[in-house]
Amino acid sequence: MKKCVLVSGGAGFIGSHVTVELIEAGYDVIVADNLSNCDLTCFEGVKKITGRDDLAFHKVDFCDASATDELFSSNRIDAVIHFAGFKAVGESVSEPLKYYRNNLTSFINVIEACRRRGCSNILFSSSATVYGEPDSVPVTEQSPRKPATSSYGNTKQMCEDILRDSVQAYSEIRGIALRYFNPIGAHPSALIGELPRGVPNNLVPFITQTAIGKRECLSVFGNDYPTPDGTCQRDFIDIVDLAKAHVFAVRRMLEGKMKNEYEIFNVGTGKPLSVMELITRFEAANGLKLNYKFAPRREGDVVAIWADPSLANAELGWKAERDIDDTLAAAWAWEKHLAE
Ligand code: UD1
Repeated sequence: MKKCVLVSGGAGFIGSHVTVELIEAGYDVIVADNLSNCDLTCFEGVKKITGRDDLAFHKVDFCDASATDELFSSNRIDAVIHFAGFKAVGESVSEPLKYYRNNLTSFINVIEACRRRGCSNILFSSSATVYGEPDSVPVTEQSPRKPATSSYGNTKQMCEDILRDSVQAYSEIRGIALRYFNPIGAHPSALIGELPRGVPNNLVPFITQTAIGKRECLSVFGNDYPTPDGTCQRDFIDIVDLAKAHVFAVRRMLEGKMKNEYEIFNVGTGKPLSVMELITRFEAANGLKLNYKFAPRREGDVVAIWADPSLANAELGWKAERDIDDTLAAAWAWEKHLAE
């Protein structure tokens, strides 16, 4: 019998790409989302890409404990991937309680429902934000977690701890946390991608919106950093590559291949790229010129961070494969698709 994976936050940017990869790998998927930060555009795209017109959408708010429990009691769920959560760094600083209430409550409800309804496998979507400003790069899973600089970052650390402690205390569950670096791009079909509401905070959506004329000019935040070209360095990971890592992690859990009951993996390419390098690659990959200017540093930005992904490479058998030029072409194709 096919194993069934619940994807909480399954209508969002990462959740929709993960749903596609899970279906293509032969899993049954339950897509659930409260649509608080997205609409059904990507869910409809997932149905088209996979040819699964019958794929059901469950409108569930995971902060509602009884609705969460109901979802688990009325479906056979073998594993859950928990994406549902707020993710705007700046907003989390001005509205911390909104972030703590939402991101912690929803995850606690999911873990409780798993315990009550016999789902043993929990995968949490964490972030490289837990490393803060690292003392040395690349970072491994053993690199220290630094005090979070935003409430958003703090919820990522706290949810990791909630999972670690729950796994330790309750023998019926096990967990994996995947620490994502900077997910960018879109599905090659251009049917799903990032849909920021309002002015984008993240670099690539701002680039594509500038290229299409929705924004006048991209501000490059800081060009006096102690890096080779003065702009920040990141590990930009293709969204489809990132989505595939989830399939490997879920399989590891379901096949009983975990070496510890709680495991953490970096999900990155291992290759740093600066903000300026990314802009140049975007221009070259898509044959256009971007309107940009240098602007002051953005508060809270980390100077340079990239992953050592060797643990995920060795243990999950996963590796980032997509070429950055293809990733940036896909991001641009998605922006153009939205403008159609
Ligand atoms: C942020 C979050 C990270 C989250 C990720 C989601 C922190 C510290 N960072 O990462 O946790 O998972 O978003 O993708 O919590 N930039 C510009 N101009 C712009 C926008 C960005 O120059 O208009 C620069 C930034 O200064 C930064 C780089 O581009 O150096 C990447 O920024 P962004 O895409 O926002 O991601 P992070 O801040 O790395």
